[in-house]
Amino acid sequence: MTLSITSDNKASPQVLDDDLFAPSPRHPDSRLETDWLFLYNKLPPDQWFGADYAYKTSGWLKVHTNIRKRQRILTQISEGYQTGEYDWAKYRSQMLKRINMHILKLHQHHGVEDEGFFPEFIRMYPQLQAGFEILGCDHVRLDALLDKLQLQNDTLARTEVEDKALAEQLHQTLVDVTNLLSQHLSDEEDLVIPILGLRQG
Ligand SMILES: [Fe+2]
Ligand SMILES: [Fe+2]
Repeated sequence: MTLSITSDNKASPQVLDDDLFAPSPRHPDSRLETDWLFLYNKLPPDQWFGADYAYKTSGWLKVHTNIRKRQRILTQISEGYQTGEYDWAKYRSQMLKRINMHILKLHQHHGVEDEGFFPEFIRMYPQLQAGFEILGCDHVRLDALLDKLQLQNDTLARTEVEDKALAEQLHQTLVDVTNLLSQHLSDEEDLVIPILGLRQG
């Protein structure tokens, strides 16, 4: 391989090497395009908790950790009922308040992002607008799933006699939320955390 830059505007070996070693977005079905990863390449995930960045990045990541944790606990309780570990009364008592709190916290978090952070980040980096539009659409899709989950939870609150079909429907909604959240939180972090870590102040 020659090390000189070609005259016909082809990428130099250095650029090709940079592309070759650039980190990939973490989710296997990430929607992030290569053009949006210029900050991610400067601040890849293995540096997010470094001393120079953690004080700017850890707050956002902690909120996401708590979202993932609440989602995981709900799914575990639901699976516990499906496998017979929990009876109906225990299942209901564990689920009802937890689901209400989870939905409330998710709506609060999405509201702060949609109305505050995302518009601010787009002003800083207009070339990332399409990426933030994907994340905004995820919030709309999540809202619809959370509305469904809320209705199922309200029904669960009124259903003292065991209703296996209701528990199965609720479990499927939880699985759908888990799948969407997994992709959404990962793509959001890959786009947002480098912005937070690399900005001044
Ligand atoms: Fe989000
Ligand atoms: Fe978020």
